[in-house]
Amino acid sequence: MRVLVTPDYRTLSQTSAELVIKAVRAKPDLTIGLPTGRTPIGMYEDLVKRYRKEHLDFSLLQTFNLDEYIGLPQHHPKSYRTYMRRHFFDHVNVLPANIHIPDGSDPQQYERAIQSAGGIDLLIVGIGANAHIAFNEPGSSFDSRTRIVALAPETIHNAQQHFGNEPVPIKAVTMGIGTILEARRIVLLASGAEKSDAVERALRGPVSESIPASALQRHANMIVILDEAAKL
Ligand code: PGA
Repeated sequence: MRVLVTPDYRTLSQTSAELVIKAVRAKPDLTIGLPTGRTPIGMYEDLVKRYRKEHLDFSLLQTFNLDEYIGLPQHHPKSYRTYMRRHFFDHVNVLPANIHIPDGSDPQQYERAIQSAGGIDLLIVGIGANAHIAFNEPGSSFDSRTRIVALAPETIHNAQQHFGNEPVPIKAVTMGIGTILEARRIVLLASGAEKSDAVERALRGPVSESIPASALQRHANMIVILDEAAKL
């Protein structure tokens, strides 16, 4: 596991975007696992900027999002599908047919689609303050596959700020930890002091299903990109 500590969020975003661009240049038909949330917004911004400036081509890219809320219409402003359009897909030439976002209707089909695409080459993932990865909450099996899960109370609580007066969905569909671990390369992003404890437990603590991100210690090709604040 390589740990890169960047001075600030901006550098974290640039470093992760650079890593994605290098991977796409090396393999234009890359299959990539993509996260949502606050942390990767800067990475997507940088990717879009560089796409325009450097005339990058994402037309052969296959994308698989890590997770999605259950119970929100696709076009809901807080759905991850909408997030991905707003921050990335609307601004680059990823083909709609190559975009995959789970919707919970057939989780096994999502797994088969990943397999048909040749498996995930590069997967970017954030970490929750409770050390969840994607929506694999504490207690998730390290063998878990794409499935519908109940969100942890703290996850719902943290999401409430984004939903205003609307209720936060209580369920989601998520790639499993087993699915995530099969990616050939994993990049974990963490920014801000509120993540430092989770990062510490994930990287240095015992490998335990009560700390979902600790499963990543078992991955042979893993890069962690932190900003100073996320480092304990
Ligand atoms: P955040 O979410 O980037 O919004 O902090 C990360 C996560 O919960 O996985």
